[in-house]
Amino acid sequence: MCQNHGVAYVSPGVVEVREIEYPKLALGNRKCEHGVILKIVSTNICGSDQHMVRGRTTAPSGLVLGHEITGFIIEAGRDVEFVKVGDLVSVPFNIACGRCRNCKAGQTGICLNVNPARPGAAYGYVDMGGWVGGQAEYVMVPYADFNLLKFPDSDQAMAKIKDLTLLSDIFPTGFHGAVTAGVGPGSIVYVAGAGPVGLACAASCHLLGAAVVIVGDMIDERLAQARSFGCETIDLKQEADLADQIAAIVGVPEVDCAVDCVGFEAKGHGHDSTQEQPATVLNSIMEITRAGGQLGIPGLYVTGDPGGVDEAAKTGSLKIRIGLGWAKSHSIHTGQCPVMKYHRQLMNAILYGKIKIADAVNVEVISLKDAVKGYHDFDKGAAKKFVIDPHGMIAN
Ligand SMILES: NC(=O)c1ccc[n+]([C@@H]2O[C@H](COP(=O)([O-])OP(=O)(O)OC[C@H]3O[C@@H](n4cnc5c(N)ncnc54)[C@H](O)[C@@H]3O)[C@@H](O)[C@H]2O)c1
Ligand SMILES: [Zn+2]
Ligand SMILES: [Zn+2]
Repeated sequence: MCQNHGVAYVSPGVVEVREIEYPKLALGNRKCEHGVILKIVSTNICGSDQHMVRGRTTAPSGLVLGHEITGFIIEAGRDVEFVKVGDLVSVPFNIACGRCRNCKAGQTGICLNVNPARPGAAYGYVDMGGWVGGQAEYVMVPYADFNLLKFPDSDQAMAKIKDLTLLSDIFPTGFHGAVTAGVGPGSIVYVAGAGPVGLACAASCHLLGAAVVIVGDMIDERLAQARSFGCETIDLKQEADLADQIAAIVGVPEVDCAVDCVGFEAKGHGHDSTQEQPATVLNSIMEITRAGGQLGIPGLYVTGDPGGVDEAAKTGSLKIRIGLGWAKSHSIHTGQCPVMKYHRQLMNAILYGKIKIADAVNVEVISLKDAVKGYHDFDKGAAKKFVIDPHGMIAN
């Protein structure tokens, strides 16, 4: 039996690399002959993991983390027909059966058959069906024929693996945020948050032809990272009104489209920029988006938050000024990104040199043993996307 090691959540603020079970083609009693075992080439740390690690969810101690996975198939179940041992594949973070009405409609983020508790599942995530995470050496991927994106040529893919590793989540997620905000040629866009999702969204806005992409955050290094590939930036530590800060860039106090790449751990603006205000991004994007505009909300909002700022926030109820959004006829789009809707086209954008997404989000490759430090540095606001290389397969 092979050995396996992975990153486990221990308690708020604490993760550790420990020996974990080698994956089986099963989840408890559920047989997964439609699944494969992957030898993981790259697996990224995500802001979504941080919500759990900060103790802001009901994640149990011992949960093996990791939903952003790329790897080689080393074993395939009896019912796998089309992907093969030896294929290098990207794993969408959403687990989807391919058989339910939502999957059939392309809504793979809310598959009905992979999580008894609610629609939607993911690897290594609280309330997401109990599937084992992939910040590890090996992982099992169910419904492999449906879920996996095979790279056309493994050697070519390994040469661009720092970019392709972002197809499992943040590149499609940022792109989805832009698409659902209605970004197109000539758009003026505000992206809240300059973490990896915000930066991936900003780069996606450029890919979609936006005229001006304005990124807001309160971390200087992350704002500098956004400027490195042509974004305008807004420092939210400043006291000025967001609308005035936007007017200083584009001449008017509003944008065509806005994307929330922050979520429920949002901090306030100006003198409140160290204080949590979970509804602030939702309210500010309604304020600054033109009447008739669309709001993309990939930033995560939860149904249970032990660290919520008040009783209501502890159950995910936030003070949103919906009357303003209604008056402006805003369209609002929330939820998990259905990765599969975008990953093939975005793979081609990478392979044919249309975007340098790894540079935009500043990928840094680290070993599995350095994952604990990666979590720590990411939590401190490093302007980096940490990619774990558990088998030392990625060339520097
Ligand atoms: N919908 C999906 O499918 C999906 C997928 C991946 C990640 N996410 C979510 O997207 C969000 C961003 O992920 P990430 O990895 O970039 O996380 P991150 O924590 O690294 O980035 C969030 C950034 O928002 C900034 N911020 C805080 N308050 C702000 C405010 N009021 N205005 C602007 N910026 C503010 C923070 O300083 C930080 O830089 C998270 O909530 C994550 O869970 C959703
Ligand atoms: Zn993620
Ligand atoms: Zn399904």
